[in-house]
Amino acid sequence: MHSLELSSLERTGTLGKILGTVAAPGDVITLAGPLGAGKTALVQAIARGLGVGPETYVTSPTFSLLHEYRGRIPLYHMDLYRLAGEEEIESLGFPEYFYGEGLTVIEWPERLGSFMPAERLHIELAISGETSRSARLTGYGSLWQKKVTDILARV
Ligand SMILES: Nc1ncnc2c1ncn2[C@@H]1O[C@H](COP(=O)(O)OP(=O)(O)OP(=O)(O)O)[C@@H](O)[C@H]1O
Ligand SMILES: [Mg+2]
Repeated sequence: MHSLELSSLERTGTLGKILGTVAAPGDVITLAGPLGAGKTALVQAIARGLGVGPETYVTSPTFSLLHEYRGRIPLYHMDLYRLAGEEEIESLGFPEYFYGEGLTVIEWPERLGSFMPAERLHIELAISGETSRSARLTGYGSLWQKKVTDILARV
């Protein structure tokens, strides 16, 4: 686990842009953190890093469950809060996205149960001040463990 202090919204943007830049097909990022922690702000920056244009408004898929954006590779942004459990997640076909051609970012990943990908980057955001957030990054799987180090060197 690596800790990172994001002292401003701009720093969160920098982290997000790097994540979008290094993303490869089949990558999964799981996101956690309370209201106002900056989850949506981070995903907006990830989208920019993937080359999603500024004319595209990136919002949380709170009601729609899944938002898809076209960048260098697709971005699939999921919010699983409203889903009851694994059966519902499977019937929506969500697990298929994880191993597809895009980057999947998942809010409320604990809903996944056994569908939780073994290889993923988990980011936990917490409010540490009015304009600062702390991020804890954990790479699961050998690939992400290496990638996390590369990412932190660039932030
Ligand atoms: N360092 C920072 N990083 C991210 N956001 C910050 C930072 N400092 C201040 N903010 C502000 O905090 C808010 C974060 O809101 P955001 O919608 O991204 O949170 P969220 O985690 O998605 O919350 P919710 O669970 O309600 O969707 C924004 O208003 C943003 O401007
Ligand atoms: Mg949000």
